[in-house]
Amino acid sequence: MKEIKGERWGSRIGLIFAVAGNAVGLGNFLRFPAQAAQNGGGAFIIPYLVAFLLMGIPLLWVEWAIGRHGGKYGYNSTPGMFHKLGKGKYLKYIGVFGIFNNLVIAAYYCYIESWTLAYVWHSLAGTFTGLDSNAISAFFSAYLNIDNTNFINIPGTGIIFFILTLGLNLWILSKGLSKGIEIVSKIALPALILFGVILAMRAFTLDAGESGAVYDAMTGFNFLWTPKFESLSDPKVWLAAAGQIFFTLSVGMGSIHCYASYLREKDDIALNASAAGWMNEFVEIILGASIVIPISAAYLGLEWVRSNVGFEMGFRTMPSLFQNWGPVLSVIAGVVWFGLLFFAGITSSLAMGQPVMAFFQQTLNQSRKKSAVTFGILTLLLALPCILFYRMGVFGEFDYWAGTFALVVFATAEMIIFAWVFGIENAWGEIRKGADMSIPMVYKFVLKYITPIFLIAVLVGSTLKPATGDWILELTNLFNGEGWNFAADSVVGTILHIGSENLAYFANGVPTEIFFKDISRLLLSILFISLSFLTYRHWKKEESK
Ligand code: PHE
Repeated sequence: MKEIKGERWGSRIGLIFAVAGNAVGLGNFLRFPAQAAQNGGGAFIIPYLVAFLLMGIPLLWVEWAIGRHGGKYGYNSTPGMFHKLGKGKYLKYIGVFGIFNNLVIAAYYCYIESWTLAYVWHSLAGTFTGLDSNAISAFFSAYLNIDNTNFINIPGTGIIFFILTLGLNLWILSKGLSKGIEIVSKIALPALILFGVILAMRAFTLDAGESGAVYDAMTGFNFLWTPKFESLSDPKVWLAAAGQIFFTLSVGMGSIHCYASYLREKDDIALNASAAGWMNEFVEIILGASIVIPISAAYLGLEWVRSNVGFEMGFRTMPSLFQNWGPVLSVIAGVVWFGLLFFAGITSSLAMGQPVMAFFQQTLNQSRKKSAVTFGILTLLLALPCILFYRMGVFGEFDYWAGTFALVVFATAEMIIFAWVFGIENAWGEIRKGADMSIPMVYKFVLKYITPIFLIAVLVGSTLKPATGDWILELTNLFNGEGWNFAADSVVGTILHIGSENLAYFANGVPTEIFFKDISRLLLSILFISLSFLTYRHWKKEESK
């Protein structure tokens, strides 16, 4: 088979930085601490590490393999790649998830990324200097314009920073792989690791009584790292752990496939995928775990952290804690912290843009620049509802449906297709082709049985989770004809808005949260259908050629 010409990575080192930059993102520094604390600290860590070894690593190999295999045929986005995995006509529509997820996540992700840029600016300008914690929290609400009672929030500077951030992304993307993404990653990744080490060292040495700290930062570390084995039987913790592994490794998104498709057929994937995965884990559990939780626990106590933790803490709380370090150090800490977040964010949002662009290059025959513009317009259109109706839950809907649920659906589907439709022998051969490391034989068994079963369990568990949390009781009730009670936070419960008392779309002539949630779902469905239609049209043309 002749190798198809097209864009390629410039160098192996550039590739490593780009794929590590793809994985290392806001998820490592903002989402991980929030998830770990909400799920009991040490109770979270064991399911998290198990999910990394039994789902994360195998999925990384699978996605790299599907990507390199598709790239061999000139496909850089998932519909084409999946089309090549078997005979089924449906396969390419599974691949649509790989475009949909990136696009929807990019919309709200770039919004958060733009906050980090704004906060670098405000730290430098000294905006936070001397402000107390209430004032900084109020600043955040005012920045998002969520402190009024209107249902619409129009954040003036927030939109400017968003457009600036998106524009920067598009500019880098339009430069291509080696002149854009690789160069940015080679600067951003080392810089963010350095910044992370600085802040983590500060946390390690923060004792009670020093720099205004009330407790030892060690209380935070102990909370995270003292294993609590009883959590192993709690499905909620397992779901959260699996969700975090997906998000942080960027699996189930279509992003890794795309990066891998720019490899050559004989290039290694086994070692590259493992190296990027382990590097991401280093950044997450060594650096990500050592900043927000230990520093906030030192100032505000563990109880406060446990009940207030969330990704907004990075913006509402951290800058006010830095104020304890004096006027100069607090400015430096602000720039280091938000600079780190910005670098982590941008190398990830670039990785969301590339697959979407590749899709439009293929289905609409667009040039790189044109496809960057298309990606930009779509991201802007999707981001506007998140920005303007932030308080009405649009942002949350996007994060739930694309950033949580669709990831698991896509990952489950691809795992089954790769191991069972493409076939385990082909799959195993594909992963080991050109490999610079040997993969333990046991992983062949893991790929065929363990990971798919694990994924199906997570998917079914989260979709059908019963209200009582007691599956046996619920099954008994079902057989007795009493029906099944879905938990409010199950997928079905979410679709049906279980737990919301009033399902009206308008109250006193003003649209309600339920209205915005259902409209968001409609919008996302239309997007998915449109992307599927483009896919359909493109293949119809191909086949008639
Ligand atoms: N893995 C990234 C993070 O941890 C997020 C991401 C999502 C990256 C989708 C690429 C594609 O923040």
